[in-house]
Amino acid sequence: MEDNCRKGIILAGGKGTRLSPVTFGVSKQLLPLYNKPAIYYPLSTLMLSGIRNFLIIVNPKDLNNFKSLLGNGEQFGIEISYAEQSSPDGIAQAFTIGEKFIGDSNVALILGDNFFYGNSLSKDLLKASKKNKGATIFACEVKDPERYGVVDFDKDLKVKSIIEKPKNPLTNFAVTGLYFYDNNVIEYSKKLKPSKRGELEITDLNMIYLKKGELEVNLFARAIIWLDTGTFDSLYEAGALVKSIENKQIFKIGCPEEISWRMGWINSDQLNSLLIKYKNNEYGNYLKNLIQSKNMF
Ligand code: DAU
Repeated sequence: MEDNCRKGIILAGGKGTRLSPVTFGVSKQLLPLYNKPAIYYPLSTLMLSGIRNFLIIVNPKDLNNFKSLLGNGEQFGIEISYAEQSSPDGIAQAFTIGEKFIGDSNVALILGDNFFYGNSLSKDLLKASKKNKGATIFACEVKDPERYGVVDFDKDLKVKSIIEKPKNPLTNFAVTGLYFYDNNVIEYSKKLKPSKRGELEITDLNMIYLKKGELEVNLFARAIIWLDTGTFDSLYEAGALVKSIENKQIFKIGCPEEISWRMGWINSDQLNSLLIKYKNNEYGNYLKNLIQSKNMF
């Protein structure tokens, strides 16, 4: 099965102010998105890209909670280490915080509050992950582009620029929180200066790649769903979506143990040994049925 030596960073820091008072006690990426912690979904997305080595960047106050949930990742057949971001000074800071972890590898970054689901998603991710040079990002047509980085095209549909949270967006194509970069990202991120809102902007980093002619912007097909779960409404909507899909079909969404098993990173005996934690609850029964059905689709 697919895996590669690209490393993965999940940015799960921030203050979660839009979700207070809930986030006074717990990080938003640990809140339930229906029946799993929200971080299971971005973790699963990067695992589907073939990535097995992860750095999770967190707010220092939440570090122990993340460690209790995910540990060193061996139960998922992956490696997880952690780093702290003492204040949310920008998404692009992930690459200076993660410099040692990245080493001389290529890297993917996903925002801990982003949710992706869809049929051809794995294919798109594996393709982006296998590319050795430049950067690949994904855009999606949305109704409220002013909340995001927005892609502007010229008349030949070539990307002209990306503008962060424009007041008057020129298109509806929002940049999603999933980014694949070559190793130059470390050097480029060191050149960034804080924006007017005081952050090292991921959009400025993407603009460096664009100006060098090294940025590929993929537009997600209609069948791919992308949600940013940073507000109560979007968290609720994403949870309702997972509930409705999981109640209709036999597969779970965002189950890292299943992905690992299908990727061949853990075998059926290892998966079986995890069941003890679940004491026959619904999640455990799902994993048990996987082993019994040996369903490889
Ligand atoms: O969701 C996609 C959008 O994410 C992109 O379209 C935008 O270009 C990008 O700037 C970003 O916009 P947001 O306004 O959604 O970013 P926000 O500040 O909400 O941060 C996204 C997540 O990253 C959030 O869960 C908190 C985490 N974060 C953010 C910052 C700035 C950190 O962990 N550390 C940080 O320093």
